[in-house]
Amino acid sequence: MLQASHLTKKFGELVAVNDLSFSVEEGQVYGIAGPNGAGKSTVYNLITGIYSFEGDITFDGISLSGMPPHKIAQLGISRTFQIPQTFPSLSVEQGVGVGSRFGDSDGYDSENVESILEFLGLEEDRNLITSDLNLLGKKKLMIGSALATRPRVLLLDEPMAGSNAHEIRDLMELIRRINKDMGVTIIVIEHFMKVLIELTDKLLIIESGTKIAEGDPNEVTQLPEVIESYLGDAYADDN
Ligand SMILES: Nc1ncnc2c1ncn2[C@@H]1O[C@H](COP(=O)(O)OP(=O)(O)O)[C@@H](O)[C@H]1O
Ligand SMILES: [Mg+2]
Repeated sequence: MLQASHLTKKFGELVAVNDLSFSVEEGQVYGIAGPNGAGKSTVYNLITGIYSFEGDITFDGISLSGMPPHKIAQLGISRTFQIPQTFPSLSVEQGVGVGSRFGDSDGYDSENVESILEFLGLEEDRNLITSDLNLLGKKKLMIGSALATRPRVLLLDEPMAGSNAHEIRDLMELIRRINKDMGVTIIVIEHFMKVLIELTDKLLIIESGTKIAEGDPNEVTQLPEVIESYLGDAYADDN
């Protein structure tokens, strides 16, 4: 469904993404992990049309090279950000509505907004002002706004960051429901290996923009090169 081939992004001298190839199948939960600065968020910025790149990315065989972000959203690719990006003065309902306006070529669709509020369990909170929400609320709203564009693929950038164990459970359950019940393919960047092992069908590990490993999350996380480059750090952080 989504295929990156020989994807490269340079910022001046820095090669943030280096000849990276991977492919995501429809229906998968696909994980991306790697140390800070590995190029994970940059990969999202390339997929969503924020930056130009060398190599190619195709979605159902259509090249995304040179395509502007709103066109990519209308093709069915949506994302969230590492630090929740919301409109602080809007209500929850309006915030979800922004996604509906942005991604849907027919414009605002109140039924779609309503079903997303219900899906996220935010009906009661619809009139709350976004700036009054806690971190989990803001994350859910950002996911809701992304879902309102009617994506076929949703890119999540470290959705668990800053969450406690209970919130992590909650978000994992939400991601599973988006995947299984809504039928949305998921790509998730995450730092927590336990979450990736439980949640993903396939895992890509990158370091310095380069692929270290890709495959079954249980197998990939056992590879010595992965443990050396990444897991040592992550386990040290966890414990
Ligand atoms: N717009 C930019 N301009 C210059 N350097 C950037 C830019 N975006 C990211 N980088 C650099 O690219 C590298 C990869 O960053 P990023 O993709 O954010 O890493 P990750 O998400 O894996 O932590 C880092 O060294 C970062 O400083
Ligand atoms: Mg990042």
